[in-house]
Amino acid sequence: MRVKTIVLMMAGRIGCLLWLIMVSATRQATEEEWTTVHVFKEPEFDAPIKNLTVPVGREAILTCTVKNLGTKYKVAWVRAEDQTILSLHSKVVTHNSRIGVTHDSANTWQLRIRQLKESDRGCYVCQINTAVMKIAEGCLDVYVPPDIINTDTSGDLSVSEGENATLWCKATGHPTPRIVWKREDGQSIVLRKGPREYTEVETYNGTNLHFWRLDRRQMGAYLCIASNDVPPAVSKRIALNVNFAPVIKVPSQLLGTPSNTDVQLECYVEAFPNTINYWTRHMGEMLLNGSKYIIREDRSGYKIYMWLIIRSFTESDEGTYNCISTNSLGKAEGTMRLYDIKVSAGSPQEGTLSIISGLAEPARGHINASSASRNGATLFVFLIVAMILLCR
Ligand SMILES: *[C@@H]1O[C@H](CO)[C@@H](O)[C@H](O)[C@H]1NC(C)=O
Ligand SMILES: *[C@@H]1O[C@H](CO)[C@@H](O)[C@H](O)[C@H]1NC(C)=O
Ligand SMILES: *[C@@H]1O[C@H](CO)[C@@H](O)[C@H](O)[C@H]1NC(C)=O
Ligand SMILES: *[C@@H]1O[C@H](CO)[C@@H](O)[C@H](O)[C@H]1NC(C)=O
Ligand SMILES: *[C@@H]1O[C@H](CO)[C@@H](O)[C@H](O)[C@H]1NC(C)=O
Repeated sequence: MRVKTIVLMMAGRIGCLLWLIMVSATRQATEEEWTTVHVFKEPEFDAPIKNLTVPVGREAILTCTVKNLGTKYKVAWVRAEDQTILSLHSKVVTHNSRIGVTHDSANTWQLRIRQLKESDRGCYVCQINTAVMKIAEGCLDVYVPPDIINTDTSGDLSVSEGENATLWCKATGHPTPRIVWKREDGQSIVLRKGPREYTEVETYNGTNLHFWRLDRRQMGAYLCIASNDVPPAVSKRIALNVNFAPVIKVPSQLLGTPSNTDVQLECYVEAFPNTINYWTRHMGEMLLNGSKYIIREDRSGYKIYMWLIIRSFTESDEGTYNCISTNSLGKAEGTMRLYDIKVSAGSPQEGTLSIISGLAEPARGHINASSASRNGATLFVFLIVAMILLCR
């Protein structure tokens, strides 16, 4: 038994030795083989093929550089996706008039694809017909500039204040365009955060621009701008109208004004859509623009200022005046009462204008007047004291 085991172990050692010798012999053989091949200079690629990104409609040129081609081998371009052979050596073999091949310098084969289409996107293989085929691959991305899909983008919207509204905008393009919203007037976009909380942003990113419980400040023209890495960016203008009934604020409701002056009344209106505005007197008689009354208004968005100038105010002009504003959603009116104030210390000159707060202007005049007379009195007292002192 023991002898048998020893014999087996020795056999194992010898086997192992033999194996080692065989392995080293084979390795020598492969090295020799490799050296032989090198002597024949089999063709090989000189550089990897550069990937390309080219806008649609332009021309893409993929360059394959081969060295040691010799006369035995040929270079072919093949579309990777479906293995279609496009060119062989310097001949185009596909029936696609947009494809060309140029073999200007000895080492380069250029595959040219003109008037690029999106379907040309993909990888292209440069092949050398060696025994074991050699291949190199270059990929082509076809960029498409952004385009807004009008049928999938909101149009102008008119929504009542307090309701919800969403503006949306979709665009095609490759890579997928980014959508950014801006206000056309350059102001910031007001977004409601909570019942009474708002945030303001210059731009908003995203396909959908949500407005929860619309506020009149959110009215305006919005621009949806779609852009990717391919110029030009495109935009669409979407008007968002917020409808609400008129609201009127009157800065001064009780106005005293001196006789023979012009007095100006003012009302501030907020409303949308457009309003019809007018002035009445004594709860009925409509006032017309003319020599007695000058009516002006200034409108900017949903804000309207209304002015009425009454020329040469007299006692007969005393009474109630109303500014009235109506639109399709409602009507509002502001009321002012005008009365004549008797100015004791000399009446102001005719043609003086008492602004809005008719009361404020003459009153201010009065204060100046009184402070002037107070100054006069001080001077008078000073003179008397001086005289007394001097005369002593
Ligand atoms: C070319 O693009 C392909 C696929 O997008 C990628 O696998 C390859 O590494 C790129 N080659 C180079 C040289 O960047
Ligand atoms: C507006 O949207 C909020 C939540 O998104 C909803 O609770 C509310 O009922 C909507 N209001 C209207 C008027 O549709
Ligand atoms: C919006 O997109 C622009 C451009 O892609 C980016 O610079 C900006 O940081 C984004 N803003 C937000 C709030 O995500
Ligand atoms: C009233 O007339 C003046 C010129 O006298 C004019 O400037 C103004 O626009 C008119 N107002 C209205 C409401 O027509
Ligand atoms: C009248 O008083 C106001 C403020 O009280 C002042 O601003 C103005 O300069 C004064 N006018 C004159 C003429 O003193």
